[in-house]
Amino acid sequence: LTGTKLGCSEGGCGACTVMVSKWDRLQNRIFSQQHFVCRHFSVNSCLAPVVSMHDCAVTTVEGIGSTKTKLHAVQERLWKFHGSQCGFCTPGIVMSMYALLRNNSSPKMPNIETCLQGNLCRCTGYRPILGGFTATATAKPNEVYEKSDKNDCSDCYKPYDPSQEPIFPPELLVSFHLLNCMLIAQSVRILCHIAQSVRILYAAVHNMYAYDVTLHNLYAYDVTLHNLYAYYAAVHNMYAYNAAISSRNHPVSPLKFVGERVTWYRPTTLDQLTDLKEKYPDAHLVVGNTEIGIETGVKGRCYPVIVTPAAVEEISFVKYDQSGIEIGASCILSNLVQQLNKIVEEKGGHLTQPLSAILEMLHWFAGDQIRNVAVIGGNIMTASPISDLNPILMACCATATFMLHSRGTRKVPMDQSFFPSYRKTCATKGEVLLSVRIPFMRKGEYMKAYMQSKRREDDIAIVNAALRVKFYPGSRKVEEFSAAFGGMAATSVMAKNLMENIIGREWKDDLIDDVSAWMREDFKLEQNAPGGMVEYREALTLSFFFKFYIHIKDCLCKEGATQVSITELRIKSKHSTWGESPCFTEHSDMGRGLLIVFVGRPLPHSSGQLHVTGEAKYIDDITPHADELYMCLVTSTRCHAYVRDVNLADAMTSPGYVTYVDHRDIPGSNECGVMNGDLVFANGKVTCVGQVIGAVIADTCAHAQRAAQLVKITYEDIFPRILTIEDAIKHESFHKILHLNAGDAAAALDASEYVIEGEIRIAGQEHFYLETQACLVVPQLESDQMEIYASSQSPTFLQDNAASVLGIENNKVIVRVKRMGGGFGGKETRFVLVSNPAVVAAKKCGRPIRCMLTRQEDMLISGQRHSFYAKYKVGFTKEGKLTSLVNNIYSNAGNSLDLSISVMERALYHSGGCYRIPNISIAGHVCKTNVSSNTAFRGFGAPQAMLIAEDWISGIAAKLGISGEKVREINMYKEGDNTYYGQVLECFNLPRCWQECRQKSNFNERKEKIEEYNSKNRWRKRGISCIPTMFGISFTGFFLNQAGALVQVYKDGSVLLTHGGTEMGQGLHTKMIQVASTCLGIPASRIHISSTSTETVPNTSPTAASVGSDINGMAIKEACEKILGRLKPLRENLAELSWDDLIMKAYLERISLSATGFYKTPDIYCNWDQKSGECFGRPFDYFTYGAAVSEVEIDCLTGDHVVLQTDIVMDVGGSLNPAVDIGQIEGAFMQGYGMMMLEEPLINIRGELLTRGPGAYKIPGFGDCPRRFNVHLLQNSRNKRAIFSSKARFGEPPLFLSASVFFAVKNAVESARKHSGLFGAFRMDSPATCERIRMWCGDQFTK
Ligand SMILES: Cc1cc2nc3c(=O)[nH]c(=O)nc-3n(C[C@H](O)[C@H](O)[C@H](O)COP(=O)(O)OP(=O)(O)OC[C@H]3O[C@@H](n4cnc5c(N)ncnc54)[C@H](O)[C@@H]3O)c2cc1C
Ligand code: FES
Ligand code: FES
Repeated sequence: LTGTKLGCSEGGCGACTVMVSKWDRLQNRIFSQQHFVCRHFSVNSCLAPVVSMHDCAVTTVEGIGSTKTKLHAVQERLWKFHGSQCGFCTPGIVMSMYALLRNNSSPKMPNIETCLQGNLCRCTGYRPILGGFTATATAKPNEVYEKSDKNDCSDCYKPYDPSQEPIFPPELLVSFHLLNCMLIAQSVRILCHIAQSVRILYAAVHNMYAYDVTLHNLYAYDVTLHNLYAYYAAVHNMYAYNAAISSRNHPVSPLKFVGERVTWYRPTTLDQLTDLKEKYPDAHLVVGNTEIGIETGVKGRCYPVIVTPAAVEEISFVKYDQSGIEIGASCILSNLVQQLNKIVEEKGGHLTQPLSAILEMLHWFAGDQIRNVAVIGGNIMTASPISDLNPILMACCATATFMLHSRGTRKVPMDQSFFPSYRKTCATKGEVLLSVRIPFMRKGEYMKAYMQSKRREDDIAIVNAALRVKFYPGSRKVEEFSAAFGGMAATSVMAKNLMENIIGREWKDDLIDDVSAWMREDFKLEQNAPGGMVEYREALTLSFFFKFYIHIKDCLCKEGATQVSITELRIKSKHSTWGESPCFTEHSDMGRGLLIVFVGRPLPHSSGQLHVTGEAKYIDDITPHADELYMCLVTSTRCHAYVRDVNLADAMTSPGYVTYVDHRDIPGSNECGVMNGDLVFANGKVTCVGQVIGAVIADTCAHAQRAAQLVKITYEDIFPRILTIEDAIKHESFHKILHLNAGDAAAALDASEYVIEGEIRIAGQEHFYLETQACLVVPQLESDQMEIYASSQSPTFLQDNAASVLGIENNKVIVRVKRMGGGFGGKETRFVLVSNPAVVAAKKCGRPIRCMLTRQEDMLISGQRHSFYAKYKVGFTKEGKLTSLVNNIYSNAGNSLDLSISVMERALYHSGGCYRIPNISIAGHVCKTNVSSNTAFRGFGAPQAMLIAEDWISGIAAKLGISGEKVREINMYKEGDNTYYGQVLECFNLPRCWQECRQKSNFNERKEKIEEYNSKNRWRKRGISCIPTMFGISFTGFFLNQAGALVQVYKDGSVLLTHGGTEMGQGLHTKMIQVASTCLGIPASRIHISSTSTETVPNTSPTAASVGSDINGMAIKEACEKILGRLKPLRENLAELSWDDLIMKAYLERISLSATGFYKTPDIYCNWDQKSGECFGRPFDYFTYGAAVSEVEIDCLTGDHVVLQTDIVMDVGGSLNPAVDIGQIEGAFMQGYGMMMLEEPLINIRGELLTRGPGAYKIPGFGDCPRRFNVHLLQNSRNKRAIFSSKARFGEPPLFLSASVFFAVKNAVESARKHSGLFGAFRMDSPATCERIRMWCGDQFTK
């Protein structure tokens, strides 16, 4: 079973989601860990220990539907709504939705949004997934799917019928006698090694019921694992039977599992639990494993004794009386939500304010998969300084109850002394937390909680706060006050000064200044405080108080005690701030296109059904070879150092260790990568953290990882360490400087009526493809040949590298790429960091070698989008017409060149944006630094360059006091204009996109409404912006603009198609099938693409630069035409023959039925004199155009924002497949949104990447999708320069349109600044994170 995917191992991506069901033996129904709720629940299998699945039914994606039988309604909707691209995230998303449906068969949009909070997708832009699932939920009976050729699939599916779902497996309810009989069955030991590697084994858990055979009620903690067996019936249902579950009414029994390194106990009574904890005081209590799982799984820690209180009912309760509520420590968070909601409803809002505060926090707390297993006790006892619950418990004066077996219970107030230091509580050794008691609010008492995180959903807080006030009866005078904050110290802390000084004060406006002063005393962070963002965090504390102040005024006002202005009332808390659920207009453009056979039709992705069923195979899903070994890379922990010693002693004694490979094992060349600028293995010196030094080979993945951790390397640091662009400028550390000049920029600047200067910094971006870099190398010893299965955008580049490393000819290396779980440029060249060592290891061991990087390794090693910095001067007239631009651009290339020159070249070509600049002088500095080499990423330097251009456009607008849109219109190129590198613009559709977009989005009308809104609201502002894009299509390395294809027609008329492009989710294979079907005049279903291989099409170019469909489509067309040409005489004579008969006839007539095709892009050239910087040519085959309008709302006090609406008009020519194109546009937009609004890789002063994994690095989630997201394809556009009048694959061009959000935010911030008396231009770096937005707003709290 391969459906369940591993994307991060830390609960942050949801790719591993499965559904777990439990039977409540007492109540005879399904329950979620505790018996008072009846439902199934989604979990992250990467954090779920197999032993915790005891008694459970585990359903993976394979268990709900398949292409062999029938798709489940969830799978069908996702497929038909084009909800998968690369498909790697898809099974997890399917399972989240499936778990929701099993509990609620007609969910509403908010339910769907909540159930997907814990899932990430990097390809789709989320809109089609939400659309598909809304359809699942809203389908009416008898709407039967019949019209497969309909353009819009929204009404072509069968209704969801919940009565058809499988029942809870009766085998799990077997009687004792039956069970005994089954014990005779062949036994198989549970495959997991407890704790460290107790994750659910993805391949083994289709409906897995893990029962053990500890007998009866045995309190048998000293019995070894020998007695513990898991039994399973081979195929679908894997059962291990528990003798203790003798009948459905039998109580659960205590358990003990003993693994290679860990012993796991599951007591069932409080007495057993406390006894065990006293016996093993260092044992960790683990319930949800969402904290401990990260420490053991990602950080490699080992806890030898683990005790789980999950089955101890005495601490899993929620109960309440007149004065408060008591929550058992093992109360699962999602159960807690249900219970609290009931109590709030029952008792009313005032008494239960602390419960509402908890509910509000829990809405943003992780995702469903985490909330379904994590418990309140785990959150409290982790004592994280950014715990979301602890500040609330502190502020509401909660009391915790601990128990020590030998001493009994004690009650402890949850105040400042509860958390004495970082991740420590006041619990004594051996104590167990039993429960926490929360008092209800009294009359005149109020409380509220706040939090701000980088991403709205599934992200831990930057700062959170809980504030409580009690007034003297009948007055506004403060009698009691508590304020607890997270994220401001090493523990959750209370604001001492504030709490002392505020007592006795009246709740009126003069309080604000005093409170600010007291709080500044309370929270003085050092400039280098852990977590950074010092000023922002300080400002947030004050802002939260201010929000609380307004909220209380509002409460008092409602009670008639005070008055409050409307503007202030608009400040709402986070949960309700952006309450509107997303809604999307239908894509009326879907069906448009050239209706020649299959080109132009919105066919679903050719692997769509395989994606949604989990049947699509990626590298890690390939069935292991019998003698296969696993490789784990050993990488540098220093950014610039000599490697003095590599000590393998400990690693060699580690279980499963086979060998270690390094530069001494390379038979060919150690130099690799683009222009041999990288090394396979560092040799004596390292130049970045994460550089590959060697690799450990072992029998399993876990053993290889453990042994690799034991390799000890001695370094000697080298200085300086050049990490940033600023460092590179200071040390003049450049790989190369490129110049592009036109006209006389300096003289024109001098002569300009106006000149502005500016600078902007643009952060890098992690690719975060869901499938990490992976390969499987299989040596064919007989012929000295290597067969490599890889997740690579460039099979030929991989082949070149492998052959060179091995010192053999290319014809001995076969590279196969079936599909990738996303690429985005990150797999264009950097996969060699994995494939080359694997090739060396395979050669040395003579055995197959597999390696799939962990998410953390991948982020560390494989490079990112280049960060940029620009310093410019721009000249213009008083009307805003551009006269001159002088621009110094810097990119951080990292420790090797890789593709950085080409990235900078494209940046220079796009530095003018969409605007005509008569005089220009740009210098592009490619900085050489000690960070992992940065590489291709969707847009390839163009988005950064165009963002710089839009920055000076907005500077001009600010200077002249006119709108940015006006400046854009004045300067926009026109048909027939020359670019500054000499390319004449033909079929220049940009003005049409621009006009259509403004008109479809009602730009002018909405702008007016926004102005009105902003004039009425002080602390929430809206902004709108319209941004154009033009993207040059072609590789700037001209030789790469070529492609080949092979078309093979078999005797039965079926066609096997092969071309040089690779499928990474962008729908290339789907489009190529459509091209072939159109050329040959046969249905797409008769055409199959197996994989991309160097064996069938040689010398392929990378699938990149958005030219995949153009060049491969043309090559396919040529091959098809060759075959058609050979068939022509037959056709002329036998016109009535069907395709199948015609082909058979041709075969009998000995006509060749296979043909290759080749294409090279004509008429592209460029004469670029690097000395003078003069450039003249036609570097691009054509341009792709588009425009976007986005409207945003920002919370000026926190910096939070929401995209209210985005409208895009994109010129796709005559679309080959509008559904695929729209999917690409949406996906690119969201990825660009991440780049400009959210994502920021961080390194420390030692050059270590801090943002590794989804916990620390936030890509956009479902909740970031614009609330209204409309994509339109430009009408009546034809492109004579590409296949079937289409335009390039829509991977790259639309990415930059997300700048419309960036500048809409700028527009909103400008309005906020005006309120604070801040006028004129201000510098806005990218990404516009909540921190930056808040600080740009600038008010009394940020000073
Ligand atoms: C993807 C992800 C997102 C997250 N998001 C958030 C978030 O938004 N906000 C937030 O605050 N946290 C978040 N967390 C942290 C974590 O989920 C919570 O702290 C959770 O409540 C821990 O509960 P658990 O049952 O999983 O703890 P476990 O990992 O099982 O245990 C955690 C600790 O608590 C101790 N413990 C548990 N029960 C007891 C007891 N009865 N007595 C004594 N000690 C006990 C354990 O020994 C252990 O040290 C997130 C974690 C992940 C992986
Ligand atoms: S792999 Fe489990 S959440 Fe990412
Ligand atoms: S389809 Fe979601 S990550 Fe690729």
